[in-house]
Formats: sequence, C-alpha cells, structure tokens
Amino acid sequence: MNNLKIRNVLPEELDCITEIEATCFPAAEAAPKNVFKERFSVFPEGFFVAELNNEIIGFINGGVTNENHIQDEFFETMSLHIPNGDNIAIFGLDVHPKYQKRGYAKQLMKHFIESAKKSDRKNVLLTCKNHLIEYYKQFGYINEGVSESIHGGAEWYDMYLELK
Ligand SMILES: CC(C)(COP(=O)(O)OP(=O)(O)OC[C@H]1O[C@@H](n2cnc3c(N)ncnc32)[C@H](O)[C@@H]1OP(=O)(O)O)[C@@H](O)C(=O)NCCC(=O)NCCS
Repeated sequence: MNNLKIRNVLPEELDCITEIEATCFPAAEAAPKNVFKERFSVFPEGFFVAELNNEIIGFINGGVTNENHIQDEFFETMSLHIPNGDNIAIFGLDVHPKYQKRGYAKQLMKHFIESAKKSDRKNVLLTCKNHLIEYYKQFGYINEGVSESIHGGAEWYDMYLELK
C-alpha cells in the first residue's frame, strides 16, 4: 500500500534531509546542512518532504527567480530568491536509494508543480544530468541543451516547464 504523504519540511528534519542528499549526490554536488537551513528559513513554502510510514524518504526544494536559467550561485545562497518572481527553480529532487523506482519522485514533482501553479508562477526550472532528461520530459519539461552550469564540475542540462 502506498502511504506516501507529501508535506512541508519541519526544521528538525534537516539532518535527515542532509543525509539523504549525501546518499544521492557526490560530495562536490551535495548541499550541506547550512544550505538546507537557509533554504528552509527563507522559503519553507517551497520545501517538501515525502514521508512513508513515519520515515522521511525523499524531498524536493526550490527558490524563486526572474531569470530563465538557474544560476550556480543560487544552489549556495538564497540571497538570489525573489519571493514574487515568475519562475521557480528546483534545487534538488532526492529519493533515498532504498525507495527509488516506486514513483515517489514523481509524486514529489507533481506536488511541487501543483504548488507552483497555485502560486501563479510562470515556469518551473531545473538542471539535470543527461540520463534524467527523458525522465523529466514525462512531466512536460522541455530540454534546452547543455547548461552553462558548472555545479560540482558535472555537465548539466537546462530544462523548463511552462505553467501558463
Ligand atoms: C532521480 C530520482 C529522484 C528518481 O527517484 P524515483 O523515486 O526512483 O523516481 P520514480 O520512481 O518517479 O521514477 C524512476 C523510474 O522508476 C520507474 N518506476 C516508477 N514506479 C515504478 C514501479 N512501481 N516499478 C518499477 N519502476 C517504476 C519510472 O518509470 C522511472 O523510470 P525511468 O527512469 O525509466 O523513467 C532518484 O533516482 C534520485 O534521488 N537520484 C539521485 C539524485 C538525483 O539525481 N536527483 C535528480 C537531480 S536533477
């Protein structure tokens, strides 16, 4: 049975979030706890967790901008966050490896998109690696090709989803 609950993160869950991030990403790309703390304190409305039988198994979080692409600096600081901006950027979508391939990330993404629509955003932005381009296309994201991002020294692709 799918008991997945998606809700806003609580401050006491940031340690767990940091651990999941370190499991999902190489050290050069993983956000540290202080970054999650800032994201939570500046924009808790854009930070959701997936809870399965009282355990946090994944999360999605973001920030708002008027830019059309995510600037690398935005992964590190919320000083670029514009509360009433047009576009919401996804900083991370993580599901703990133990729970992957069960559709949980899909539920997190759908929740995030619905929330962005309710907040009247124009676009959702993300960057992803080559192997996830097809995955994001299922939600309607459009691939804009290789990103200028050099986050963590990896190659990223810019994708966006038009909401209106
Ligand atoms: C990317 C990530 C978030 C996906 O999480 P997930 O919960 O496994 O995602 P989903 O279950 O929605 O979909 C994953 C795949 O499982 C498949 N799947 C979903 N439910 C399934 C089920 N019940 N049985 C079998 N396969 C299933 C999906 O079709 C999808 O396949 P595809 O990749 O061929 O499209 C996860 O792998 C992750 O955290 N990776 C590391 C961090 C990362 O790279 N994040 C993205 C940053 S851009």
